Amino acid sequence: MTPLRYPHFGVFTHPPEESYLTLMERSALILGDAHQVLAGMPAKTIQSVVTSPPYWSLRDYGVEGQIGLEQSVYEYVDTLADLFDEVSRVLRDDGTIWLNIGDSYTSGNRGWRAPDRKNVARAMSVRPPTPEGLKDKDLIGVPWRLAFALQDRGWYLRCDIVWNKPNAQPESVRDRPTRSHEYVFFLSKSERYYYDVDAVRGPNGRRARTVWDLKTQAYKEASGHFATFPPSLVEKCVLMGSRQGDVILDPFLGSGTTALVAGAMNRRFAGIELNPEYFDMARKRLLAAGFHEDKRELGQSAASG
Ligand SMILES: C[S@@+](CC[C@H](N)C(=O)[O-])C[C@H]1O[C@@H](n2cnc3c(N)ncnc32)[C@H](O)[C@@H]1O
Repeated sequence: MTPLRYPHFGVFTHPPEESYLTLMERSALILGDAHQVLAGMPAKTIQSVVTSPPYWSLRDYGVEGQIGLEQSVYEYVDTLADLFDEVSRVLRDDGTIWLNIGDSYTSGNRGWRAPDRKNVARAMSVRPPTPEGLKDKDLIGVPWRLAFALQDRGWYLRCDIVWNKPNAQPESVRDRPTRSHEYVFFLSKSERYYYDVDAVRGPNGRRARTVWDLKTQAYKEASGHFATFPPSLVEKCVLMGSRQGDVILDPFLGSGTTALVAGAMNRRFAGIELNPEYFDMARKRLLAAGFHEDKRELGQSAASG
C-alpha cells in the first residue's frame, strides 16, 4: 500500500474542551449529535459531503437524539433539511453533497413491522403511522421529498444517481417488483462548483453516467445494525467531488466507510456519529487500515502529513 498522506486523525467527544477551529488541520472523528457538532464547526472548510442519513422509520439505532424515528415523514424531512442548512455553512462555496437515501412503504397503521422472513435485518419493532395524504401500501417517496426540501432551501439539485444493486436482497412481497435500487443525489451549494469530469471513466473511456451498478458490500462488524456504503460508491463521489488534501465530511459516519475511503485517497475527513458503539467501530476500522489516532488535544498545532 502506498503511504497515507494524512495518516493521523483526532478523536473527540462533543462538546470538545477547545474550539473546533483547528479541527480542519487534520482528520477527525467526533462523537455527538450531527446538528450540534456541525453548529460548532468553522464555516467554509468542507469540500464535499458523502453521506447516508438514517432512513425514515426503518431502524432503531438505540440512542437518544437519533434521526429517523420521527412520527411523521414531514418532520423527518424538516429535521434533515435543517441539518443540511448547517452543512451549507461549513461547506466551501464551491462544495458539493453526495446524498444516499432510501425509501420505505407506509405501514397501514399497524404500529409494528411483520417479520420479514427473507431479510431478518430489515425487521424492526417500531413503525410510524401512515403519513397524512398517503394510503396503506404507498411508496412514500422519501428521497424525492428530501431532495425537493433541499432545493427549497437553496441547494442546486444537480442529478439523481440510481444506485442499482445487482445483488439486492429478495423481498417477501408478491404484488410488485422487488426493489433493487437507491438514489444518490448530487447537490451543490452554488451554481458553479468543483467537479472533476475526468476523474471517473466508464467502459471505452466514457464519462460517468447516472446509473451505477454496484454490489452491496456488508461490513461484517456492522451487519444487522445498518447498511454500510460499498467503498466503491464512496470512491467515485470522492474522486469527482474533491482534490487530494480537501476535507470530506460524513455527518452520519456509521462504520466509517467514508472516512476510510477518503483517507485512503489522500483526502482529510471529518466523521460525526452519535452512537458510541458505532463510533468505536469506525475508529477501530481506521486503526486496522493503518491510520493513527492522534492524541493531541484540539488547539495544539497538528503537523499531520
Ligand atoms: C445508515 S447509517 C450510516 C452508514 C454509513 N454510511 C456506513 O458506511 O457505515 C446512519 C448512521 O447515522 C447515525 N445517526 C443517527 N442519528 C444521528 C445524529 N443525530 N447524529 C449523528 N449520527 C446519527 C446512526 O447511529 C447510524 O450509524
